[in-house]
Parts: sequence; C-alpha cells; structure tokens
Amino acid sequence: MTEKSKTFYLETFGCQMNAHDSEKVVGTLEQQGYAQVHVEEEADLILYNTCSIRDKAEQKVFNRLNDYKKLHKQGKRFGVLGCVAQQEGERIFDRAPYVSLVSGSASYRKLPEMIARLEAGETRITGLDDRKTEETFETEFTARTNPYRGYITIIEGCDKFCAYCVVPYTRGKERSRTSTSVLMEARRMADSGYSEIQLLGQNVNSYRDPEGKRSFAELLAAIGELEGIRRVRFTTSHPRDFTRDIVAAIDSVPELCDHVHLPVQSGSSGVLQRMNREYTREQYLERVSWVRAAKRSISMTTDIIVGFPGETADDFIETMDLLAEVQYDAVFAFKYSPRPNTPSIHMPDSIPDEEKSRRLQSLLERQREIQRINYSLQIGKTYEAAVEGHNQQRSQVIGRTTQNKTLNFTASSTILPAPGSYVAVRITAAFPNSLVGIAVS
Ligand code: 5AD
Ligand code: SF4
Repeated sequence: MTEKSKTFYLETFGCQMNAHDSEKVVGTLEQQGYAQVHVEEEADLILYNTCSIRDKAEQKVFNRLNDYKKLHKQGKRFGVLGCVAQQEGERIFDRAPYVSLVSGSASYRKLPEMIARLEAGETRITGLDDRKTEETFETEFTARTNPYRGYITIIEGCDKFCAYCVVPYTRGKERSRTSTSVLMEARRMADSGYSEIQLLGQNVNSYRDPEGKRSFAELLAAIGELEGIRRVRFTTSHPRDFTRDIVAAIDSVPELCDHVHLPVQSGSSGVLQRMNREYTREQYLERVSWVRAAKRSISMTTDIIVGFPGETADDFIETMDLLAEVQYDAVFAFKYSPRPNTPSIHMPDSIPDEEKSRRLQSLLERQREIQRINYSLQIGKTYEAAVEGHNQQRSQVIGRTTQNKTLNFTASSTILPAPGSYVAVRITAAFPNSLVGIAVS
C-alpha cells in the first residue's frame, strides 16, 4: 500500500448492529486517511464485516473471500471483521491465507492501531477480545449512510446465552453506554438534521445506565423529547426484559414509534425452555397483552426458529397457533442452524432438512394470510409516511409508517416530497407486505 492511494472497500453482511458498526468502521478509516471505494478492484484494503448467525450467512463470507482472492496477487490486503472473525479467529488465516487482519466487534476501538500495523507490513493481525472487554466502541467519526435516519448503539454484547445463538460468543459481554453519552449523540444528530433515531442492542431493553440516571423507558422518552426528533425506534427487545413502562412510554411520548419487535422464537414452552429463553408461552403472551392494552395501536413483529432440536409436530402447531393469537405484522422465520460453540450443538439436530423446510413454508403461508387480511383492513385510513425515496419508473414515493410498514404513495403535486419529509397518506390498496396510498397533504 502506498501512502498516496489509501483506499478501502467494505462489504457488510448480517444485522443492523453490523450495518451500524460498519458506519463506525468507515468513519474510523477515513480518520486514518483512507477513502472508501465501492468496487473491490479499486481498493488497497478489502474488508468484510461478517455474520455467523446461521451457516448460510457464514458460507456467503467464505465464498466472497474465495471469489476475490486473486486480487491478493495485485498487492491488495484483506481483513475479516465481525462475527465470523470472532468465531473463527486465527483459523481464518489457515482457511484464507491472503487475509492479514481478523477482528471481532469487541476490538474495533483498537482499529487505528491494527491498521497502522497492517500498513507496517504485518500479515497476521488479530483483535479477538471476545468476552473480555468491558468497553463499548464509541466514536465521533461515524460515517452514517442516511442523512435523516440514523442508528445509535446503546448496549453491546449479550449475556443471555440462548442455546442456539452465537452472539454471546461473537459480540462479548453485555455492556451499556451511559445515557448521557447516548443523549449527546442523539442531540448532535438532531442538530445536524436527523429526525429519526433507531436505538440498537442485541437485547436493547436489557439496557442499564452505568451512571444509574435513566431506565431504558426513560432514555427512550428523553430521546423522543429532543427538539427535531420525530421518530424513535428500538431493536431488538428480549421478552424477559420487556417491562410495562416501555409501553407506558410509547403511550405518552408521541415520537416513540408504534412498533415493537419482540422475538418469540417458538410458541411451545417446552421448546422455549430447551432454548434457554427464560420465559414461557404464557409469559410471552402476557407481554403481548400489555402492548395490546396501549392507547395507541402498536404493531408487533417477531422472529421464529423452526426445527429446533426435539421440536415435535405438536410444538410446531403451538407456534402456528401463536401467530393467529398475536396477529403479527411481520414474522422473520428461520430454519434452525447448529452453530459452533453454542450449547444446542450438543443436542441432536434430528429434524430432517425437508421437514424444517415444510414447517417454514407452512408458517410463512399462514403468516402471509394473516398479513393479507390485516393490511387490507388499513384501506381508507390515513397514516403519516416518512419519505425514504422515489420509485422513478412509477413516479411513486417510497415511505414508511410509524408502525414500520412500507407505504408507497402517489404525491399530491408533480414535485415529489423530498426524502426525510413526512406526509399524510390515505391508504387505497394493500398487499401482504406493503400498503399503497395517495398523499392528502
Ligand atoms: N439458527 C436459526 N436461526 C437463528 N437465529 C439465531 N440463531 C439461530 C440459529 N442458530 C435467529 C433468531 C434470531 C434471529 C436474529 O436469527 O430468530 O432472533
Ligand atoms: Fe449476525 Fe448476530 Fe453477528 Fe448480527 S450479531 S452480525 S446477526 S451473528
């Protein structure tokens, strides 16, 4: 790498935490004098921020590394960041010897130092702090990709140890930022034109202010009350730590969005116990009843794993029944995938893949029907849409409701409302995954 042309390419896989980590990595690299490019061939340094939540996600990363390994001969350097890096550690150097840097997210605060070592010619640099670190990765150099909607990480890591999940091993111990620092970042964002903030954490509602000043619900409310902020979202909530004061905060602060993502994983208490989720079906449904009792209509979405070891046909029926009972607005469903280091790797993965696929398919079909009916009940109502972009071909505006539903609409004048603006829209048609409308303001 020459001093003059310090360029990097960064590709991100996985969840919103990873997407936001990448924004911080980009900001950090730019601070080190690097310029971002968007094709591998033009970069001196090629970075992949990886995901290992399921085997497929992990395979994607190794395929990508393999596709581009020829670029190593042209002097380009490779780095693997994120969850696969933390999980596989130095084994990555064996599997992909052209990689020079391997770092998990718990070591990103050391990136400037690791990059300096890379520039000095070292070829086996690791940042694998694992569960040792107590620190969070905070930087003022976050390169946010959207000028209106932005993420803030309030809690990193995870201490829950669900039987199937790699996160406690890839993202380290649970550690919260102070609410003072979070509010400062939110205020800075509001001052520079952001109107929507999404608070992030693997278990966002396990948040504990190290200064003891604010509960999670109080932090939500404080951000909603900042001048200029119109929408506050948070993800992902763990049912065990989901408290009534969160619903009360949504009810009393209009800026808090009408949406709770509350992963249930299974509708069977037996499966939940083996998953080490620390709640029963009944306790989950009690939390749902709190949300449903709110003054505002709060949309609920969830994650489900089908085919967890030992899931019987009856267990699966309980999950199917839960869909009808809760009436989710979206369900993200996955086939169980055994992951290295996790407790469930020792439970026989006895359900054949075809059966997992069949369960997944019937679950998605049932949910599609639920959504088709519920979304069609929205026709005739008026919602506020946050404008995200334009669909040039159909001169449609792409928007999102506070319930996090996609709402595509026709503008009331030939000048389309700008991204970042808010428009009242009357719903005229509905699909299972989106609404269509016409602007009324
Ligand atoms: N297999 C399948 N799905 C998983 N998830 C997490 N770990 C696994 C696994 N080993 C799903 C959960 C989680 C979502 C982000 O991914 O549903 O909520
Ligand atoms: Fe994937 Fe989980 Fe890591 Fe996010 S935290 S990138 S979902 S393994």
